[in-house]
Amino acid sequence: MRPHTLLRLSATLLIGSLLAAASGSAQKQQSLPTQIPQHDAIVVGAAWYPEQWPETRWEEDLKLMEAANIKMVRIAEFAWSTMEPSEGHYEMDWLERAVAAAAKHHIMSVIGTPTAAPPAWLTQKHPEILRIEENGQRVTHGNRAHASSTSPIYREYCRKIAEEMAKRFGHNPNVVGWQIDNEYGYALMSYDDLTRKQFQDWLQRKYKTLDALNSFWTTAYWSETYDNWSEIPIPVGGHNPGLMLEWKRFVTSAWSDYQANQISAIRKYAEPLQFITGNFMGFFDGFDHYIMCEPLTFASWDDYVGTGHVDPDSNGLSHDLTRGFKRANFWLIETQPGAVNWANVNNYLNKGEVRAMAWQAIAHGADAVSYWQWRSALNGQEQYHGTLVGADGTPVPFYDEVRQIGQEFSKVQEAFRGTTNQSEVALLYSYDSHWAIQFQKHTQRYGDVALLKSYYRALRKLTPSVDVVSAYAPLGGYKLVVAPDLNVLPKDLANHLLEYVRSGGHLVLGPRSGLKEEHNELQTQRQPGYLAEALGARVEQYYALEKDFPASGEWGAGQVSIWAEQLGLLNSSAHTLLRYRKSNGWLDDQPAVVTSHCGKGRITYIGAILDDKLMSTTAEWMAKESGLRPPALSVPEGVELSVRSGGGNRITILINFAQEVKKVELGRPMKQLLSRRQAQSVELPQYGVEVLQE
Ligand code: GLA
Repeated sequence: MRPHTLLRLSATLLIGSLLAAASGSAQKQQSLPTQIPQHDAIVVGAAWYPEQWPETRWEEDLKLMEAANIKMVRIAEFAWSTMEPSEGHYEMDWLERAVAAAAKHHIMSVIGTPTAAPPAWLTQKHPEILRIEENGQRVTHGNRAHASSTSPIYREYCRKIAEEMAKRFGHNPNVVGWQIDNEYGYALMSYDDLTRKQFQDWLQRKYKTLDALNSFWTTAYWSETYDNWSEIPIPVGGHNPGLMLEWKRFVTSAWSDYQANQISAIRKYAEPLQFITGNFMGFFDGFDHYIMCEPLTFASWDDYVGTGHVDPDSNGLSHDLTRGFKRANFWLIETQPGAVNWANVNNYLNKGEVRAMAWQAIAHGADAVSYWQWRSALNGQEQYHGTLVGADGTPVPFYDEVRQIGQEFSKVQEAFRGTTNQSEVALLYSYDSHWAIQFQKHTQRYGDVALLKSYYRALRKLTPSVDVVSAYAPLGGYKLVVAPDLNVLPKDLANHLLEYVRSGGHLVLGPRSGLKEEHNELQTQRQPGYLAEALGARVEQYYALEKDFPASGEWGAGQVSIWAEQLGLLNSSAHTLLRYRKSNGWLDDQPAVVTSHCGKGRITYIGAILDDKLMSTTAEWMAKESGLRPPALSVPEGVELSVRSGGGNRITILINFAQEVKKVELGRPMKQLLSRRQAQSVELPQYGVEVLQE
């Protein structure tokens, strides 16, 4: 087991037992780190850049924010040149005044460290901190994410500014927390000698000997053998899969250290109650988010639709992924105020769509929804981005939608205090597996996240919450665990999963599972590798498909597409649930899905990508077989049902993402928290939201 994994498991177990100890009669008092003491449990926020405006304007902005029920501003994350206009000369009085002015309007502040945008004096003095891109060119000053996260010189400047900020604001009661950097430079690396040397040293610490590295990477292939650590290159695509996977892990470790440097600077001076978070980006895969989130108080993410309109399944899945980073509530620290400026077509979201998205975030475990941004800088790269007020300083039409969201959050905030999503189902996600598949997709049609989503969509219809967690997360509490893409499946992970199955869980594996070992080398047992014996079956051969083929069995009949694996039974305990029909000859009538009892539990292997029809019968079978509680309400297609509970409260959130009006029978009288009425049934127009209490 890798050290970070052990750390993660023990930390999670510790938090789990603390939470368990806090449950029961004390549950009402249980506080979540995402819900700030003495503030509303769920809040609306905005990114505000006071440094871009004359101070005489602040009061007007804050008045407008207060009127829109904005309770939080995120500030300063790009203000380095204003906070430290020349080296060692700190000017933070203005920021203190901005925080105080916001507080007068009952607005709490979250301060971002400005390290995504080092100032010109710094890049002039130390041009070596500017990143070198893959093509060997150094980036120039004037954009952002231009510094190298691995540069010790840059890290020292980052530490200093974070420390100065923490000294100044670490005990300010109106500063409730910190954001480190901004989107962590999109995990961009500098392809310079120093980074390469750090990578080589990191490899040496991990592998100890070159013999081990050469053997695990099979470097005899194409004469890749390394005789010296200094020969190992930074991969730029098309390199050895072992090297490529280790590079991704090194990138994670580099950004993790970059983050730790600032966390320790802040923690040294700041009040422990101030939280520390980072703003992630859903399925962005630059680094392993489970590792990045370990030292953070909670995870946050930036949710942008870009071109088009919100896809509730994709968006819900991204929320649940973020909730799974720390297996706890999170913040939506940036989201789209109507339109962005960076997509192919920067269309505006429909009236009401942003409100539906805000409620969807809350429904999936967010405790803050913050709009980027309040007002566009008059100059700068993002002039066209959506905002709440225009260049003239008065509200744009969208402002009223935010005001409504804020009003609604205020109304129901007590009901949400201490509530979280409770899931009986977990989907497992693994960055190692994701990267391994991305490096060698074998068919460009294969999308591991798309496959994850197809399981999510089908299961989410049958249960009000699905967790998306690391494959190494504790699984004991789940009735059903589905791992659609566990390509890299080393022995410690297999043992972890087997323990879950043997003690009564149901593990479902998808195609490509267990093909790879820890170093991205092929597993020498057939798929699913260490789990084949427990399954009583193995993969005889995998096939990338040019066209769809029929399949049928106990789950009915449908089509398989993109990828199909021919399964072979190893013993009589394995039972075939689905077979391929007339196909490429190889697959004709061969098993596509096999299930087997194992210990007190069950293990099922689904070797193909199923169409929607088969996927929904599969999900129904999984739910029934695993004993999932049926949802208390049945909702029509297009309506999303979520439940948050805790502290004696149980809140049901219904959102209609369909175009037509949808009626939902509640079966019993429920309290409508937004309208403060009682209802037995509700009607939801497009983007309609109901927040119901038992
Ligand atoms: C990202 C950044 C913000 C802003 C928005 C625009 O999420 O974090 O600074 O650029 O995109 O959509």
